[in-house]
Amino acid sequence: MINIPRGTQDILPKDTYKWQFIENKLHELMKLYNYKEIRTPIFESTELFSRGVGDSTDVVQKEMYTFKDKGDRSITLRPEGTAGVVRSFIENKMQGDPNQPVKLYYNGPMFRYERKQKGRYRQFVQFGVEAIGSENPAIDVEIISMLVHIYKSFGLKDLKLVINSIGDAESRAEYTKALQTHFEPVIDTFCNDCQNRLYTNPMRILDCKVDRDKEAVKNAPKITDYLNDYSKQYFEEVKTLLDELGIEYEIDTNLVRGLDYYTHTAFEVMSNAEGFGAITTLCGGGRYNGLLELLDGPKETGIGFALSIERLLLALEAEGIEIEQEESIDLFIATMGDQAEKYSISLINKLRHSGISCDKDYLGRKLKGQMKQADRLNAVHTIVLGDDELQKEQVEVKNMKTGENTTVSFKELEQYLKEKS
Ligand code: HAM
Repeated sequence: MINIPRGTQDILPKDTYKWQFIENKLHELMKLYNYKEIRTPIFESTELFSRGVGDSTDVVQKEMYTFKDKGDRSITLRPEGTAGVVRSFIENKMQGDPNQPVKLYYNGPMFRYERKQKGRYRQFVQFGVEAIGSENPAIDVEIISMLVHIYKSFGLKDLKLVINSIGDAESRAEYTKALQTHFEPVIDTFCNDCQNRLYTNPMRILDCKVDRDKEAVKNAPKITDYLNDYSKQYFEEVKTLLDELGIEYEIDTNLVRGLDYYTHTAFEVMSNAEGFGAITTLCGGGRYNGLLELLDGPKETGIGFALSIERLLLALEAEGIEIEQEESIDLFIATMGDQAEKYSISLINKLRHSGISCDKDYLGRKLKGQMKQADRLNAVHTIVLGDDELQKEQVEVKNMKTGENTTVSFKELEQYLKEKS
């Protein structure tokens, strides 16, 4: 037997309705905020991620599914959505679109070679949002408030919004120096990754899974003390606007995010729900002011976030929120005898073409078995076709909820069901 690859999952028909419910709701919510869907390829040139996400990040160093295609090009299955969306923005010259900022969203599979854990998969579905073309605290707040709105609209309550500013390039350069000075004397006691990070990306030491609880991490210099005036002012405005909207948040100066492109506003939403698992982050995002230029694009800036549907489902489960299954069919056609069976094939075809959802037996079940099947399919109506019905050209339509029977002629059946469904 060939098994499913580690870290992936089949979403079976008994569960797909939950995904469809979530995805439909997200599409609806995006209309409220005037964001339009974009679909980019699942694989991209490896360079897009090594440059965009950053060579020193765990994602690029350890987690990418990279391979050579038959034309000897290095290709990578996308580990995240932002780089591809920004590439598309640049390639399609979206800065020329009169509607600025360009507001985009996406929903699709991403791939990271990570250690499998509850809430962590090697293929997962990210729903993400990007607003590109405006450097204005109001758009940062639109994105954050949208995120909170999304989770609340699914009924989640046990949430914590954490924000930070990682400043602009100038602030970060100062801060990086301060971190190097701080960690250098004790770096020998840190993990190998952190020893490398000291020179490539010292901010990442702050959220290292291995060394996170070390004293030197807890009393490390804080980015907020190194923000220049512009960065400080920007962060203040974001906080003021969040306060005005009544959105509660915590500031965590160690929230640095795992990808290199972030500047200024960074945020995550965590689930506090018991039983959610060791990974508490539901989603993350932030502003990326240098990314477009880094990818040879115009001097535009963006902000966005991504959440995985898998973790959203886990949070719903942890808070005991169920998604109702509303699936049913309008009609189940049961048959008795060869003639009726034959007739049911053309009848079902005709009814489906007129928009009535229906099904029938294909296993030669006895009448009792067919009625059980109708129950399992949650049929609203059933009919039983036999010789008598064929002769009279009429049938009893049973409403499965009320148990009521109505005699309907073959000619009127289509119209009757349309009115009732
Ligand atoms: P990220 O923090 O790497 O950011 O991932 C965002 C979200 O994707 C996570 O919070 C989590 O919900 C989900 N996620 C990531 N890895 C996994 C996994 N292995 N299994 C299940 N879910 C996972 C980004 O990807 C950025 N592109 C977000 C962004 C958009 N920033 C600006 N715009």
